[in-house]
Amino acid sequence: MEILRSVVVLLHIVGFAVTFGGWVAEAAARRFRTTRMMDYGLLISLLTGLVLAAPWPSNTVLNYPKIGIKLAILVALGGVLGMGNARQRRTGQAVPRALFAAVGALAFAAAAIAVVW
Ligand code: HEM
Repeated sequence: MEILRSVVVLLHIVGFAVTFGGWVAEAAARRFRTTRMMDYGLLISLLTGLVLAAPWPSNTVLNYPKIGIKLAILVALGGVLGMGNARQRRTGQAVPRALFAAVGALAFAAAAIAVVW
């Protein structure tokens, strides 16, 4: 069970890597667009996070306030990505810089809370 849980944690971290990596790639290329990769990464984080948040038959102690805050950040991130994607589809332009920055900041904040708290 411990090994299975570790594999799910690994996939959960891959979700973060895909979202944040997609964001870094856009910033580095100076395109500042929201992308499908970010959506997929977020979906992976959500699905694996929900699996990890269920009580596992092991002696892992779950920190529910921390999980709740990460879930709230994930929902906010989903909202920001949804807005960004819709705007891009409508205007064909990159998203406003503040919206783009919010994607990176929220993803980073969720990972920071996961690791530091
Ligand atoms: C963008 C959103 C998220 C990011 C970046 C993120 C990031 C992380 C990271 C990096 C870890 C590994 C931390 C460690 O083992 O020290 C982790 C663990 C975990 N995450 Fe998330 N997470 C996110 C959303 C969620 C959501 C939505 C849930 C649940 C609904 C969740 C539940 C968990 C649980 C239960 C663990 C395992 C904690 C433990 O075993 O100590 N996460 N998360």
